[in-house]
Parts: sequence; C-alpha cells; structure tokens
Amino acid sequence: MKHQAVLLLLLSILSHFSIAQNQGTIGKNIKLSEPDFSNNATLYDALANRKSTRSFSQENISHQDLSNLLWAAAGINRASGGRTVPLLGDIAIYVAVESGVYLYNAQEHILEHKLDEDIRSTISSQEPVKRAPAIFILTIDDSSFPGFMKDAMIEAHGMDFYYGNQVAYSTQNIYLYAATNDMNTFVMGGFYRKKVDEILSLPSGHHSYLLQLVGYNK
Ligand SMILES: Cc1cc2nc3c(=O)[nH]c(=O)nc-3n(C[C@H](O)[C@H](O)[C@H](O)COP(=O)(O)O)c2cc1C
Repeated sequence: MKHQAVLLLLLSILSHFSIAQNQGTIGKNIKLSEPDFSNNATLYDALANRKSTRSFSQENISHQDLSNLLWAAAGINRASGGRTVPLLGDIAIYVAVESGVYLYNAQEHILEHKLDEDIRSTISSQEPVKRAPAIFILTIDDSSFPGFMKDAMIEAHGMDFYYGNQVAYSTQNIYLYAATNDMNTFVMGGFYRKKVDEILSLPSGHHSYLLQLVGYNK
C-alpha cells in the first residue's frame, strides 16, 4: 500500500514535469522550441525591410519568435557547434521581459532564468525602454577569448574592437529576423552600462555592450 502511494506520487510528479516541458518551461527556465524559419521570406526581403523602429505593440513576444530571434542572434547552426554569427570569443545574450531576466544558453537552446524583477524601464533614460516587450542585452566576457591571442589582438586593434564586432553581428541578425516577421526593433548604446553589469552580476571583465529592443509592429 505504502509502495503504491509512493509510486502514485512519483507518477504525478513526472506527469507535471512532462506537462511543464511541453508548455515550454522547466522550473523557471524556458525551453525554446526548435527554430522555425518556414515563412518563405528571402534574404532580399530581409535586407530591403531592415530598419530601426522605436514603437512597439504591447503584446508579449511568443516563445516561437523568441526561439527564432535568439537562434538568429547567436544560435548553433552546425554539428561542430559553430554559430549563426562569427565568434572569436563568446557572446552572452540576456533577455529582459516583464517576468524577469533570462540568459540564452545556445548549447541547450533554452533561456535560463536569472532574475524575477522587471528591469526594462530602469536601464536607460531613453523613452523606448519603457515600451519594449523584450530587451536583448548583448554582453561579452573577455575570458571567453583565447588567451594566447590576446597580445596580438591588443596590438592589432585593441580588445574593444573585437568585443564591438562580436555584438554587432548578432544585432544585424535580429534586425533581419524582425524585418521579415512583422516585428520592430532598434539597437541602443545609450544605457546605464555599469548599472546593467551590476544588475546582471557580471564578473570583472564581462560587460554589457548594446541593448536591442524588440516587439511586434503596432
Ligand atoms: C552602436 C549603435 C548604438 C546606437 N545607440 C542608439 C541609442 O542609444 N539611441 C538611439 O535612439 N539610437 C541609437 N542608435 C541608432 C539606431 O539604432 C539606428 O541604427 C539609426 O537610427 C539608423 O536607423 P536605421 O537602423 O533605421 O537605418 C545606435 C546605433 C548603433 C549602430
């Protein structure tokens, strides 16, 4: 009898877990669905429609669009683990939404829950941060760059050149996805960078570089 009760309890926990997984959440993490680019938009469509727009509908971004945006921004696109953007080090993309802040884990294609607070309106004095359903925070950790190349990189261009380039590729990919999916977006360098680094508890050498605001067309 006791064994039966334990078994029933276990089955009930497991069924809840699988429901949660199907719904796209694992605890507070978000399990992203497979990227889906079946809308037949061409590269020409994306380039011809790319632009910055600072107004957004208040609708939250669907998990499918989040999945597609993050995969476009820095997802894994081949068996070797290579990414949709050229990376010399790594890029860490945080996503601030109403329910909190998440970190994109490209290897597992999930959003790891980091914070419960809605930080969006506090991280810049520019008005659009108050209206954007999602703010992508593009960060670079210096320690992700190969140490043996550092001296040559510093001599060639300085490390900021490499950090800036890495985030720029991801922002353009987000622009191109938005341009073909009725979404609005724009990139911002004007934000409280130190505050954001502190909120995200980034370690020394890991900094935020750009914000990219994303939402549906109004
Ligand atoms: C690195 C970078 C930082 C930017 N920072 C801001 C910003 O803080 N606020 C803003 O309104 N526009 C900013 N912009 C400009 C817009 O994102 C946008 O690129 C510009 O208005 C050109 O418009 P378009 O993208 O439609 O061609 C920035 C652009 C870049 C490339």
